[in-house]
Amino acid sequence: MVKLAVIVGSTRPVRRTAVAAQWVLDVARAHPSVLDGTATVDLLDLADFDLPLLDEPLPPLFGDYRNAHTRRWAEAVGAHDGFVFVTPEYNHAMPAALKNAIDYLFAEWNDKAAGFVSHGVQGGTRAVEQLRQVLAEVKVAGVRSSVALSAFTDFVIDDPALPGTIAPCEHQTGTLHEMLDELVAWSAALRPLRTRPTERVGA
Ligand SMILES: Cc1cc2nc3c(=O)[nH]c(=O)nc-3n(C[C@H](O)[C@H](O)[C@H](O)COP(=O)(O)O)c2cc1C
Repeated sequence: MVKLAVIVGSTRPVRRTAVAAQWVLDVARAHPSVLDGTATVDLLDLADFDLPLLDEPLPPLFGDYRNAHTRRWAEAVGAHDGFVFVTPEYNHAMPAALKNAIDYLFAEWNDKAAGFVSHGVQGGTRAVEQLRQVLAEVKVAGVRSSVALSAFTDFVIDDPALPGTIAPCEHQTGTLHEMLDELVAWSAALRPLRTRPTERVGA
């Protein structure tokens, strides 16, 4: 069983990312690997974890988490084998809240896989390129296929202050299924590495 989590990568009170993540969750729940019991999929919403700016006394590589909010986040991430990061693009980058959430942990990310769904004026792809770079340092392998949703063609937005509704072009669903195929395969393939003793020291 491969346990996947869809991570909602922004935390604003009214978020388009939550709308995109719900679409990802719905498509994932209809993916063959979930229907046949090979995989499960959960939603992890960063807003539910209410993480302050990183406030642990030790770097996460030591795995000695002192704060209850860190332990709760570590438990949620540690319980999953692979992740779909759903992210907007803020100033050509991922949101600070998402970078902060990644920075909190180390071992819980190691030797796992990730896929990406971004959104923005140009599909949010610059946030994904940055995410791939950051995740490599915590030993998360990013799969090739990723979904880039356009604010102009994949959403219906009447009021820019509101998230609007999602209406993805047909090819986006196909790409999301391809990404999930790759994510399930890589999450399973990396499992033997996750059984070795956790690396704790040495940057
Ligand atoms: C601080 C900030 C910076 C933004 N920068 C970009 C950007 O660089 N490129 C882009 O396509 N959209 C940008 N946007 C627009 C976002 O794509 C859009 O607001 C989106 O809804 C943000 O996701 P969220 O609703 O989940 O916060 C930016 C929005 C914010 C709030």
